Amino acid sequence: MTSHIRVHTEDGVLRITFDRAEKKNAFTNAMYAAMSEALLQAQSAPQIRVVLFDAEGDTFTAGNDIADFAAIASGKLRRDELHVHRFLELLARAQKPHVAAVQGLAVGIGTTMLLHCDLVYVAEDARLSTPFVNLALVPEAASSLLMPARIGHARAFAMFALGEAVDGHAAAALGLANAALPAAGVRTHALAVGKALAQRPAGALQATKRLMRDADQLAGVMSRESEVFAERLRTAEASEAFSAFAERRAPDFSKLAGR
Ligand code: COA
Repeated sequence: MTSHIRVHTEDGVLRITFDRAEKKNAFTNAMYAAMSEALLQAQSAPQIRVVLFDAEGDTFTAGNDIADFAAIASGKLRRDELHVHRFLELLARAQKPHVAAVQGLAVGIGTTMLLHCDLVYVAEDARLSTPFVNLALVPEAASSLLMPARIGHARAFAMFALGEAVDGHAAAALGLANAALPAAGVRTHALAVGKALAQRPAGALQATKRLMRDADQLAGVMSRESEVFAERLRTAEASEAFSAFAERRAPDFSKLAGR
């Protein structure tokens, strides 16, 4: 079975590469499962010092696979079969530093997962967006807490509710990324920084990360978000948004009473 995730270790860096370019690296349930396994491996293997996320193709990721959202909403995919929650909890509780290299679009969880990375390098032409409300959904991955804390409520709300995207330079200026670099060099740069981190004393690195994050608080926020998210998935609004995506048309929410 192909999970569309490649995992490779190099000089203490566990590299998790999204490899579903033909679907803009949209994350399927199988991809979350493979990434969770990789994060567990990173947690337990002492020779792994750093985790790096990067992607093949012109897109970091188009976010969660919308067909999977529709399958969850219709009951074809049961909540207890979903690996996304495990993946997010592992990210929230990660002890080792995580680095990301982002080119092109980073949609939805493609952006919110960056809030759990310790170093983020973006291409100048990257576009980070979290258009949850356009899909009749709500923020996840503790981004309802982390995004406003990072960039302020007003900008976070514009990203969540209006789907406003942030380009590479803006992401660096807002503190969503360390630097915006020419696209061709982003992955190489992030790997080099990951390898440099892997040479630092691992105990001090992990203690520093632990001091900077409250993992229990993040897990608590994620669990509240995921309850609301699950409710939203089953609404008529979400059904209209998913159908519109599949049919390549704009959604029409005008006749739906909000709830
Ligand atoms: N879930 C499932 N499939 C997706 C996807 C997603 N999130 N994003 C892209 N794809 C698929 C498309 O359906 C298309 O498949 P096809 O070739 O079988 O028709 C393929 O990837 C290429 O995407 P396409 O839309 O043709 O590329 P584009 O360059 O015109 O647009 C995006 C790229 C990312 C802007 C657009 O695909 C998009 O808006 N995707 C949805 C993003 C989203 O809302 N994600 C969820 C956030 S919570």
